Amino acid sequence: GCSNNGGGTETITPGTAPGFQPFEFQDGSELVGFDIDLTAAVFEEMDGYELADWETFEFGSLIQALTSDRIDFIAAAMTINDGRDETIDFSDPYYSANQSIIVRADGSFSPSELGDLSGRPVGAQSGTTGEETIQDELIANGELEESNYTSYDNYVLAVEDLENGNIDAIVIDEPVGDTFANQRPVEVAFIYETNEQYGFGMRTDDDDLTTAVNEGLQTVRDDGTYEDLTAEWFGS
Ligand code: ARG
Repeated sequence: GCSNNGGGTETITPGTAPGFQPFEFQDGSELVGFDIDLTAAVFEEMDGYELADWETFEFGSLIQALTSDRIDFIAAAMTINDGRDETIDFSDPYYSANQSIIVRADGSFSPSELGDLSGRPVGAQSGTTGEETIQDELIANGELEESNYTSYDNYVLAVEDLENGNIDAIVIDEPVGDTFANQRPVEVAFIYETNEQYGFGMRTDDDDLTTAVNEGLQTVRDDGTYEDLTAEWFGS
């Protein structure tokens, strides 16, 4: 949890869920990515706060880690949504994304809309909006059997299963789907527009931290740092 050393500096333990390139991933033993750099840049602008080392969790465990004080801050390409908003506070939005549907690049299956996934084994990471898309748009209306859906601890495992032919499609945030498509024998079949906004997550009683993070975020947007980081990590 956060600690105050008496000198007015609060130490914040950040948490993330790697395996989500380019937002957070392991490069050898180093944790890198857009979220890691943006967090560092934002905290650089915040008086009275310093960052401790990153703690890593499966994505589906991050909110619990935050509310139980194991971490104080989430940077994990986490979409701001109503369900999560009941438990934690989000910063102002810092990135927008849609979902993409990725398949093997061998042309064996080329869906063009969600309904085409009907009857196919599909996967997503546990606790994500990709999983929610499958649940709400396919399983809930009977287009897909619950047994056709596999929930993975992380998307790297899901992509391995896709390559192996154990599943035929994955629903995943578009920038990360693009990255897998560049690195593995998979491709983006189509985009499913969800217009999601990512936010940093904080405990609901940490209002001062949330305010300071939002101010820091505004500063890095105004001074060009944000743009430099998007150019570095997304090449645009
Ligand atoms: N944006 C999606 C969500 O909030 C996926 C985030 C997954 N993040 C990660 N670091 N694995 O559900």
